Amino acid sequence: MNRIFSGIQPTGNLHLGNYLGAIRNWVKLQKDFDCIFCIVDLHAITVPQDPAALRQATREVTAAYIASGIDTDRCIIFNQSTVAQHAELAWVFGCITPLGWLNRMTQFKEKAGKQRDNAGLGLYGYPVLMAADILLYKGTHVPVGEDQKQHLELARDIAGAFNRQFSVEYFPLPEPQIFGTATRVMSLRDGTKKMSKSDASEFSRINLTDDAAAIADKIRRAKTDPNNLPEDVKGLEGRPEAENLLGIYAALTDKTLEAVVQEFAGAQFSTFKGALADVAAAVLGPIGSEMKRLMADPAHVDAVLRKGADKAGAIAARHLREVYDIVGFLRP
Ligand code: TYM
Repeated sequence: MNRIFSGIQPTGNLHLGNYLGAIRNWVKLQKDFDCIFCIVDLHAITVPQDPAALRQATREVTAAYIASGIDTDRCIIFNQSTVAQHAELAWVFGCITPLGWLNRMTQFKEKAGKQRDNAGLGLYGYPVLMAADILLYKGTHVPVGEDQKQHLELARDIAGAFNRQFSVEYFPLPEPQIFGTATRVMSLRDGTKKMSKSDASEFSRINLTDDAAAIADKIRRAKTDPNNLPEDVKGLEGRPEAENLLGIYAALTDKTLEAVVQEFAGAQFSTFKGALADVAAAVLGPIGSEMKRLMADPAHVDAVLRKGADKAGAIAARHLREVYDIVGFLRP
């Protein structure tokens, strides 16, 4: 059986990268897969969070899923902390994951920075919990942005290590699904840096709740280079800002990068930016207003999460019992 599992951290400022790299692909995939979409609040606390803001962000990510078109009858939507088995399976996996594997994780190195000794155990074990998220449901496909690729390779390695250690074929090896023209959306202020929730500059990202005026303003101020747009895709080499903006346009209009480069060949950035602002507002506008409507009805959002927690919890409990039997825990 094919099952999708994916998730987003409730750490504020959901942006265009989260939408194009992840959520939009989920909406497309939900027809063909059994889908579980999580709001990964246990991951969020690997760096300090304000409790009230965390609760608010959890509802906001849930609202974004629904507003983007995730069908709450067909798919399971829940927040990770409501299903205790995530942490329990992460413990089992932590016991079979060599430190050498974790030492290679580039995201830990980036997040811990020079203060490595002050980084928490949770931040270090972050990818182990992520493997537990997916494998707790025997997830086979994981649609994510490019930046999660290394974590998914680790999840495959952990699944393999478990199966080998206990001589079972219990866990599938989950496949990353990284597709579309915007698998890595870059900052509007610097085409060599990923668009990120934590960037200090609001002008680096387009948030899902930005209105048309804010979107147009951010795109107008987006960094460019002095030349007009190139005649072909090869002409994008060494022009990260042009490549990023054209890639965003391609993703938003469901066209190939080649087609978009053709469409704007030789154009000035100002002309292109106007067109980009229009398509961005047309796609994000309805999502942003639906999110605001849902956020005004937290009882509804919470009900969706409760239903999801019940469904996810039933699968998780069954699988963790099987894992505990394999490991050799006595059930007296
Ligand atoms: P998070 O919350 O950082 O990001 C959520 C999703 O958005 C994608 N993404 C991007 N895609 C394109 N361009 C960008 N600039 C960009 N920024 C973010 C991410 O690739 C991701 O798909 N570790 C995960 C959450 C997680 C998870 C999981 C994902 C926890 N458990 C199990 C899949 C399966 C994370 O931090 O995502």
